[in-house]
Amino acid sequence: MNAPLAPQTIYLADYQVPAYLVKTVDLHFDLDPAQTLVSSKLEMMRNPAGQGGALKLDGEQLQLHSVTLNGQRLSEAEYDCTDSRLVIDSLPDEFTLEIVTEIQPDQNTALEGLYHSGQILCTQCEAEGFRRITYYPDRPDVLAVFTVTLTADKAQWPIMLSNGNQVASGEFEDGRHWVCWHDPHPKPAYLFALVAGDLYCQQDSFTTMSGRQVTLQIFVDPENKAKCDHALLSLKQAMQWDEQAFGREYDLDIFMIVAVNDFNMGAMENKGLNIFNAACVLASPETATDDDFYTIQSIVGHEYFHNWSGNRVTCRDWFQLSLKEGFTVMRDQSFSADLNSAAVQRIDDVDMLRRMQFAEDAGPMAHPVRPDSYMEISNFYTVTIYEKGAEVVRMLKTLAGDAGFRRGTDLYFARHDGQAVTTDDFVSAIEEANDLDLAQFQRWYTQAGTPELTVECNYNQAEKTLTVTLQQSCPATPGQPEKQPFLIPVAVGLIGEQGQSLPLQLTDETQPIDGDTRVLLLTENQQNFTFINLPERPKLSVLRGFSAPVKLTQQRDNAELAFMMANDSDSFNRWDAGQTLFINILLALIAEYQSGSTLVVPELLTDQLAAILDNASVEPALTARMLTLPSENYLAAQMAVADVDAIHAVRSFVKRSLAVTLKIRFENLYQQLHQIKPYEFNAADLAQRSLKNTCLSYLMTLTEPVQVERCLAQMAQANNMTDLLAGLRLIVDVDGPQRQQALESFYQQWQHDRQVVDKWLTVQALSTLPGTLTNIKSLMQHPAFSLKNPNNVRALIGQFCRNNPSQFHARDGSGYQFLAEQIIALDKLNPQVAARQLGAFNSWRRYNADRQKQMQAALQMIADKSDLSPDVYEIVSKYLAD
Ligand code: TRP
Ligand code: ZN
Repeated sequence: MNAPLAPQTIYLADYQVPAYLVKTVDLHFDLDPAQTLVSSKLEMMRNPAGQGGALKLDGEQLQLHSVTLNGQRLSEAEYDCTDSRLVIDSLPDEFTLEIVTEIQPDQNTALEGLYHSGQILCTQCEAEGFRRITYYPDRPDVLAVFTVTLTADKAQWPIMLSNGNQVASGEFEDGRHWVCWHDPHPKPAYLFALVAGDLYCQQDSFTTMSGRQVTLQIFVDPENKAKCDHALLSLKQAMQWDEQAFGREYDLDIFMIVAVNDFNMGAMENKGLNIFNAACVLASPETATDDDFYTIQSIVGHEYFHNWSGNRVTCRDWFQLSLKEGFTVMRDQSFSADLNSAAVQRIDDVDMLRRMQFAEDAGPMAHPVRPDSYMEISNFYTVTIYEKGAEVVRMLKTLAGDAGFRRGTDLYFARHDGQAVTTDDFVSAIEEANDLDLAQFQRWYTQAGTPELTVECNYNQAEKTLTVTLQQSCPATPGQPEKQPFLIPVAVGLIGEQGQSLPLQLTDETQPIDGDTRVLLLTENQQNFTFINLPERPKLSVLRGFSAPVKLTQQRDNAELAFMMANDSDSFNRWDAGQTLFINILLALIAEYQSGSTLVVPELLTDQLAAILDNASVEPALTARMLTLPSENYLAAQMAVADVDAIHAVRSFVKRSLAVTLKIRFENLYQQLHQIKPYEFNAADLAQRSLKNTCLSYLMTLTEPVQVERCLAQMAQANNMTDLLAGLRLIVDVDGPQRQQALESFYQQWQHDRQVVDKWLTVQALSTLPGTLTNIKSLMQHPAFSLKNPNNVRALIGQFCRNNPSQFHARDGSGYQFLAEQIIALDKLNPQVAARQLGAFNSWRRYNADRQKQMQAALQMIADKSDLSPDVYEIVSKYLAD
């Protein structure tokens, strides 16, 4: 048996500037799904700042036809070609290199490089996909000007797109045609893109702040032509927002978006030619939910914002990935907050950070925002790089202030335009524009793990002072046993007996600051802050707006939490107090459940929710969030040993008990909110539907025929996917004849629409009724499902393994076995998607001994395969390492 060869680890410390630079690239594609001929002409020069030596070009899965140097065809003896490289020795300082390769888009199931998706030919080059198109220095610090000529049969491929502007086109006599594109902005190869197909184009325009008119185009399969409006509107909103919020203007005369069905991630910011997963761009009220509309707006924004944070200023190497991703997520979060509800946006962002990123940071793949090493860069497109990276940039904004942060980003863009830089360069720009010292702050980029912040308050009645003691520590993570203290901005407020904000004056200050919130800077392991002139004992509202990505420990009893839930002037902390109250009560009940006691939901919780329901009209969107119990996975993360069954039983029990006690309120509120009107995507209507469906989800736990009728009626009347899908989700969790009937009629109605069919798969994957796994296995044989389509895989397998813990963690280990088998099968087709599914095993050491043993066996079964991709190999070996 062949022992698998471990892929190499790449270290940041080994970074060297490129030995050769590319001035211009001239690419010619003779497009054909079976075999595409790629001719590349590179004008290159030795890098005066480089180490010299041979020219090493990256290349994978290429058939090399010819290499020509300065017009002379090279013989095979004059270069060295391996399965990952083309090496040429003894080159002059400047030269022209021409390379012809052949590739097979049809055979490309990995969806990296040039591939065939439905009726479309398209590319995905980030991070290292360009090397599957031609031999090239495929690294982000080699920037070149691209000219691309596409040739194909005109009838089959009437539309042919690439980056920049179309500069020429023509036809041949044999029915083929050609188009030439030129991108004036030098760019790394990962931002290259091409698209060909018979596509419908929806067009619009945007006038930039300097008065230039930009053509906007969305290209989709003709069947999706009615689903472009929302993305186009979002794009215009994003272009305008970036001008106002960051002073960034668009820099080409045309901006294109293409929707494809097979895509490994959400979308890709290729210069002037963004390519989107169809699910992240197409929407109509009948087929997309409010969440879909919301996500599309944010992803269209995200990719557009990359034009500056990523494209004009790019990354020096892939260790700097968060330079563009963390910053761009922070930008898209601010965009969403400005266009919708800032409070809800913050709650949802933090909720996802805690559920996903905190788990990653506490597990075997924990890594810093700027990692020191990796085996496969595709594995590092993580919630740590994206979401924690965004929190780090957000803290920089807190430290510099709004105006100071803007000065800093202006300096960053001006100073580094056209360059490939590091996160250090970003921090330096913020630092210099504000005269700050951010040396200690840099630890947020280099140290992994979630810091733990402990808060203690001591009120001195005689002195009228409150001393706040802040303490920090950070758990060990792989490769980092010891941590140095972080610079943590801790936003605080003080609240009086009547719920009023109290003055914030520290010792030695002559007067309190303006406003009800101030930021304390914790730099040591432990520090005291004393507030003065406080005639009454205040309650401390700490970490307002979640001012730092830390785990907070604060001794607060249920009464204090209930008080803060009602009175904190910071809406995030109001929600957070409620979540903490839920968690405290749920964990206490779980302990009782484990010891066999009868369970009683504390009256305090019921009273609290009753009050929230009575005030629901004030902030309906926030109310919906406040009524939502913490997820089973998040509760699991709060326990020393996660008890899947107890969590599921107790959480269901509490939800049902609340529904029983508050039934009249839920029913009345539902009635009040349930209005049939034309669908609109706006904050008020979104909030209304979200709160209404939250009420319905409580009522459906009652398993009363009248509630089932209510749910079916909502589905029958629905003129939008939000209300229809909310109903279907709930019906599918109730055993009875209506269940199968609802699923069948939904499928009958929507089988022609893949985005909707994916929702139909997800609804079934999330069912908590017995038999779910069996149903999933049979759905995998359904014509609607293909293991080659990442959206299908995520909708069915991914949702089951990540978001249906009581079924995935079935005692017999069947869920684990299933996932292992799917990962092994997927790895042959699409390593990136296979590796991502492994994430469901991230926290495997946190379960009881039986389940650990079963998960370990499943992981071992994967590890024992001899021909794993580097993607799966890296994660599985890190999960199993001790
Ligand atoms: N840069 C993309 C984004 O965040 C991420 C991305 C899209 C990606 N497709 C990918 C990363 C494929 C790795 C592989 O906007
Ligand atoms: Zn991005």
